[in-house]
Amino acid sequence: MTQRIAVYPGSFDPIHRGHIDLIDRCRGLFDVLYVAVLANESKKSLFTVEERVEMIRGLVAKYPECRVECFSGLLVDFMDSVGAKVVVRGLRAVSDFDYEFQMALMNRKLNPDVETLFMVPKDDLTYVSSRLLKEVCALGGDLSSLLPDIIWHKLKQRLSPPAKTLHV
Ligand code: PNS
Repeated sequence: MTQRIAVYPGSFDPIHRGHIDLIDRCRGLFDVLYVAVLANESKKSLFTVEERVEMIRGLVAKYPECRVECFSGLLVDFMDSVGAKVVVRGLRAVSDFDYEFQMALMNRKLNPDVETLFMVPKDDLTYVSSRLLKEVCALGGDLSSLLPDIIWHKLKQRLSPPAKTLHV
């Protein structure tokens, strides 16, 4: 029987509870779910691609259907290499829509067999993004509830806030 294979691609810099919620929601829909971590030389990331892959592998090790790989180049080429026909993306808010819509259509242009499946995360995670988590953590905010413990500790280590400014 043909396996149903999907790819959940992203930067995952770092992975947070919103991503994990999505993985939890869609992994049961497919025989194999690849979490595909973008190795993008031109985009400055906080964690190396090896670190990001290792962190995610640790978190999804309990799910036999999940595989974690890095990719560079076109997503559709990575999908082809693993035999996947479905891209899974999260839609958190209307503001995500334009970019996601363009990406879905571009991927379809590149490979008409590829379908994009949009999924909605748990409502209390819709405001969470890796970019905001990094910004707030760097300023000393406590975001421990929005990240798995291990990721929260790694994020704090990497972004230890500057010493408090003294007002004189
Ligand atoms: O988590 P992100 O940064 O929103 O993920 C974006 C990602 C990795 C899905 C996207 O940048 C991507 O697919 N990059 C690979 C290059 C590619 O295929 N570009 C054309 C698709 S429009």
